Order: sequence, then C-alpha cells, then structure tokens
Amino acid sequence: MSIELQPITDDNVGDVFDLKVAPGQEEFVSTNAWSLAQAYAEYDIAWPRAIAVNGEVVGFVMLEIDPEEENGRPFWLWRLMIDAEHQRRGYGRAALLLALAHARSQGATEIYTSWVQGEGGPEPFYLGLGFEPTGELDDDEIVAVLSLV
Ligand SMILES: CC(C)(COP(=O)(O)OP(=O)(O)OC[C@H]1O[C@@H](n2cnc3c(N)ncnc32)[C@H](O)[C@@H]1OP(=O)(O)O)[C@@H](O)C(=O)NCCC(=O)NCCS
Repeated sequence: MSIELQPITDDNVGDVFDLKVAPGQEEFVSTNAWSLAQAYAEYDIAWPRAIAVNGEVVGFVMLEIDPEEENGRPFWLWRLMIDAEHQRRGYGRAALLLALAHARSQGATEIYTSWVQGEGGPEPFYLGLGFEPTGELDDDEIVAVLSLV
C-alpha cells in the first residue's frame, strides 16, 4: 500500500469534492465542499490535503497551522474523513500519522482536535491514537490533545 497526502490541485479537487462518509456519519464531519471553501477563505493558516492510496483519492485531511492563534494552540486537526467505501482499512490512521509528521516538521510539540460524541463517531479512533480529552467542550465537541514529543 502506498499512501500519500497530495496538495489540492485541479487534478484531484473534483475527487475530494465527491468523497462521502457513510450514512449516519454526516453529523461528525463537515462536507468536503465546505472544508474546501474554508481552506480557500483561510488559505494562510489551512493545510488541506487529499489522501491518496495507490494513486486513488480516498479521503481528506486538513490542519490549521497558525502561530498567532489567539488561543495559544497553533496546531489543530481541523478535518479528517475517509470515504465510506474505504474505511476500516487503516487509511485514516496512516493519513493522520503523515499529517502529524508534517505538523512536527513545522515545530509542533502537540496538536489539538475536537469531535462530536455519538454512536458510530470517531471517538474510539482518536482515543486509540493517543488523543487525551482536555476536559473542555467546544460547541458541545470534546476537545483533545495529542503530545508529539
Ligand atoms: C474516523 C475515520 C477517519 C477513521 O478512518 P478509517 O480509515 O476508517 O480508520 P482506520 O481503519 O485507520 O482505523 C484505525 C483504528 O481506529 C479504529 N476505528 C476506526 N473507526 C472506528 C470507529 N468508528 N469506531 C471504533 N473504532 C474505530 C479501527 O478499528 C482501528 O483500530 P485498530 O488499529 O485497533 O484496529 C473514518 O471512520 C471517517 O471518515 N469517519 C467519518 C468522518 C469522521 O468522523 N471524521 C472525524 C471528524 S472529527
């Protein structure tokens, strides 16, 4: 298996747009259309990438990297999704590890994320990767941090 994170280009933007999570998972992540719009609007702090396996686009990941972030937390995992047809094959974990390697290369010692709780949600995935809830809520989402040192 060859997995890579590709910059968003004319070649893959349509594939990213077309990806879909499984029925019932829509509440856990924004659509990629919205995420791409956000990446455009916040291009200076967004790091959006297509997740490609053996050249096929199967998912999308986006970091926030903002050294001037007012909350003092410059690195956030903003978005992660794997298309329904490709879930539970290790791609989400592998893609996240690649994104974390990029964060480290930019000086990150920790990274934050948040998730919606619920049946079929990503909480077990994130806890399995070592994210630890901070005890805070952000719009009802569980805030969690992962040490990168
Ligand atoms: C969460 C998501 C990205 C995981 O991607 P994936 O490719 O299916 O996950 P992986 O195959 O890499 O799984 C890695 C580990 O997490 C576990 N896992 C993944 N999804 C899980 C779930 N919904 N419930 C329980 N465990 C889960 C796997 O069993 C695996 O554990 P293991 O290594 O002990 O076997 C994917 O399910 C998804 O896109 N969900 C919908 C969108 C979403 O919720 N995104 C997160 C927004 S915050």
